[in-house]
Amino acid sequence: MYQKELQSQYYKVTKQFLANPSSALDISSLRDILRYHEWRYSIKNDPVISDFEYDQLYKQLESIETQHPDLITPDSPTQRVSSDLTEDFPSVAHTVPMLSLDNSYNAEDLKKFDQTIRKLAGLQEHDSLAYCLEPKFDGGSVAIVYENDQYIRAATRGNGAMGEDITLNVKTLKSVPLHAAFSKAGIVKAELRGEAVIRKDIFEELNKSRLKLGLSEFANPRNSAAGGLRMKQPTDTRDRGIEVFLYQIGFASGKNDEDMLASINTHQQQIELLSQLGFKLEDPSELICKDIDEVIKKVSAWEGKREAYPYEIDGMVVKVNSREIQEKCGYTQHHPKWAIAYKFKAKQATTTLENVTYQVGKIGSITPVAKVTPTQLAGVTVSSISLHNEEFIKSKDLRIGDRIIIERAGDVIPYIVKSLPDLRTGEEEVINFPEICPFNDVERVQLLRSEGESAWRCTNCTCGEQTLQKIIFHVSKDAMDIDGFGKSYVDRFFKLGWIKDVSDIYNLDYQEIAQLEGFGKKSADKLESAIGKAKSNPLSRLLYSLSIHHLGKKASKLIAQEIEDIYALQHWDTEHFTSIKDVGPVVAKNVMAYFSIQDNIDVIRKLEAHGVNIKQLESDKPLEVAEDAPLLGKTILFTGSLEQMTRNEAKKIAEALGAKNISAVSSNLNILVAGEKAGSKLKKAQELGTVEIMSESEFLALRV
Ligand code: IVH
Repeated sequence: MYQKELQSQYYKVTKQFLANPSSALDISSLRDILRYHEWRYSIKNDPVISDFEYDQLYKQLESIETQHPDLITPDSPTQRVSSDLTEDFPSVAHTVPMLSLDNSYNAEDLKKFDQTIRKLAGLQEHDSLAYCLEPKFDGGSVAIVYENDQYIRAATRGNGAMGEDITLNVKTLKSVPLHAAFSKAGIVKAELRGEAVIRKDIFEELNKSRLKLGLSEFANPRNSAAGGLRMKQPTDTRDRGIEVFLYQIGFASGKNDEDMLASINTHQQQIELLSQLGFKLEDPSELICKDIDEVIKKVSAWEGKREAYPYEIDGMVVKVNSREIQEKCGYTQHHPKWAIAYKFKAKQATTTLENVTYQVGKIGSITPVAKVTPTQLAGVTVSSISLHNEEFIKSKDLRIGDRIIIERAGDVIPYIVKSLPDLRTGEEEVINFPEICPFNDVERVQLLRSEGESAWRCTNCTCGEQTLQKIIFHVSKDAMDIDGFGKSYVDRFFKLGWIKDVSDIYNLDYQEIAQLEGFGKKSADKLESAIGKAKSNPLSRLLYSLSIHHLGKKASKLIAQEIEDIYALQHWDTEHFTSIKDVGPVVAKNVMAYFSIQDNIDVIRKLEAHGVNIKQLESDKPLEVAEDAPLLGKTILFTGSLEQMTRNEAKKIAEALGAKNISAVSSNLNILVAGEKAGSKLKKAQELGTVEIMSESEFLALRV
């Protein structure tokens, strides 16, 4: 419906406005732009701006219209809730309008909301005002009608007044009962509101099987749930793995058409009734809050566990619990005044790919890095994002100047979801991956790529960059774990010529370091003690810290179990390596190549001379697991806070009992040890029904 040029133009103006909201934008352009973003969101299921950005545009329009009510037109986006109506399904009228929600983003907004409710309901500062909290499910909204205890009809939200009739599709969903005993509560007809969602792990499976079938992946669970409701074939809806969570009774009438909602005094009671009738809901008993301060505490706790929650949620919904107070507050055309969505920090945002730079790794792999216009994402400003390798750039069809969608989930590093080719102006530049090492344009070293590998590598480094990366890796937590020895120290000592290879780390002059600007005796002493401690690391850590191509942590451990000291590897052949289970010929080849180079042996000799352990230690030896170990062959996971041991101790004990530690709750998990305050992992394990759940003491009792 929107031509490419127009889309590009709308996007440009949107970004200009968002960068400088005081810039004048006339009311009709603002409306056109809002309509365009509503179309991208509701019809294309493919938004190009975040909800937060949309709200800023919407609020601007609202504020102009408040100041100039004469300018309000009936077709203004403020005069209706957004629409997802298409011509694919017949329209049906909702019994009562399906409204949207107002949004809040921080504690201050929530406090303001509480104050407004108090004013509207005539409550004093000291009067109690309780709220119900619910996850804000990110899927597609549905209205479901029951009459005489029978499932009658289901519809999408549509434009709020009319929705699309999706009765047959929703009828395939097992979470929606076809019979529910409303009559026991005196209800003859009810219209329920809920959200159709797809569990995150089911969504991943869905995408995997789509890839296998050669189909394109869905962008996120929201789009595939909303799209799944509107399949032409009801069996396709059934096969999407959709579930419907209810959150509200929109309307309920009795025998004589009387309003049955009037006799349900709180939102919590509404939810409990639905739960008793067999509907799927988030348990409200934990989510009732005595006041707004408790709401503020709980929403932030929920934001912390958002990633672990099995369904996509983009915030929490805060609802006044008392129906009487709800009625006093009333409604706007757009939302109930007694409820508000608290939006979590956006996980997705759009930005511009400004440039591509390159990083070299410790074994010479060249990694392209996107420089993007700095953008707020889930609470941090993002300006660089890894592009992994040439193939990634090609598969995502990225160009310099492209508008891109970026995402950051929880602590996960940001990544590029996709580019938005619809918004191209024609000035974007194709990214040509370099053929020559970008760090050495003097000697022009040709990059090479081995068969089966994704990275281009500089295999003949003369510029020192790779040595620097090897040293940074050597001191890192994963390798020798030298506490407090970060990248900036390595950079500094490398530039000063104090560290030329990893062995120099163990021969530093701490008096000189103490003289450096920003150091002093205390920090030099601290560094000396951390480096001293690393000298007695197990052999497996030393092996791993040498940056041998393809030699990972696990293979380093397995090899260290087989040798008395590191020099033994000078005499090993391929067969020797591959006789170890899980060590393959590629690792063998690279370790042999490393030990055949005299310079490398010299570094090891220097390490030894500076006191670094090069011998197998007790901690390198494999754990003895008895044949009748009680957890032999079982997988185990610890969750919640443990009181009698640390997480690491628990894992070691589990290994000694024959179990394998894993990190996620899935059908592969056999045992979950739940400590205090175990949360979503425990819940998920209980839902699976196949996981044995143990307390900390039950687990420890297995030792005897
Ligand atoms: S209450 C009259 N509660 O969010 C009350 N909505 O942005 C209006 N949503 O279209 C909605 N989870 O589909 C409510 N626990 C929840 C919700 C929820 C998700 C959706 C709903 C609505 C949209 C509003």
